[in-house]
Amino acid sequence: MKNNSRRGFMGMAFGAVAAVGAIGSLVAMKKSWDPLPSVKAAGFTTLDMSIYEEGVMVTEKWRGKPIFVLKKSAKVMKEEEGDPDAQARNIKIGDDNFMIAIGLCTHLGCIPAFRKHKNDFLCACHGGTFSAAGLVTKVPPPRGLDIPPFKIDGNMLVLGEKGPEWAAMKQNGVTL
Ligand code: FES
Repeated sequence: MKNNSRRGFMGMAFGAVAAVGAIGSLVAMKKSWDPLPSVKAAGFTTLDMSIYEEGVMVTEKWRGKPIFVLKKSAKVMKEEEGDPDAQARNIKIGDDNFMIAIGLCTHLGCIPAFRKHKNDFLCACHGGTFSAAGLVTKVPPPRGLDIPPFKIDGNMLVLGEKGPEWAAMKQNGVTL
């Protein structure tokens, strides 16, 4: 009897230790599932929009994707006046205007090259072209360059955050 209760106590003690161990490993596993703070921060890219020069196409990076940033000149803005599709894609930050788009062709995902002399983009894979506003000017691309989620914060642009300007573009079918 004495032995039995001793075994019972030992059993409970081991059981308790095992339960604590199991909870401990579950907590450890949960921690390993959660993204690290650095990984969460990596979901966003913050750009200082005051550094770009007019007409100079710069490729930034967001979540491993190329992001085209093109600051428009007053001349380009004038040309776009009669083009509502181009105007709908315009991103105004402070006094400046930008074309910002994911630099992957909407046909099969090649990276189009900016042609400064033509102020447009050529996708060498199948010859598709996009205007400086990111609209298709020659198929096969099925739609304009996609616009990444963004939020305007003063002179800064946070890629990966869904601000009201981007939400409106998405709702109006300007981007996917
Ligand atoms: S991938 Fe760009 S035209 Fe085909």
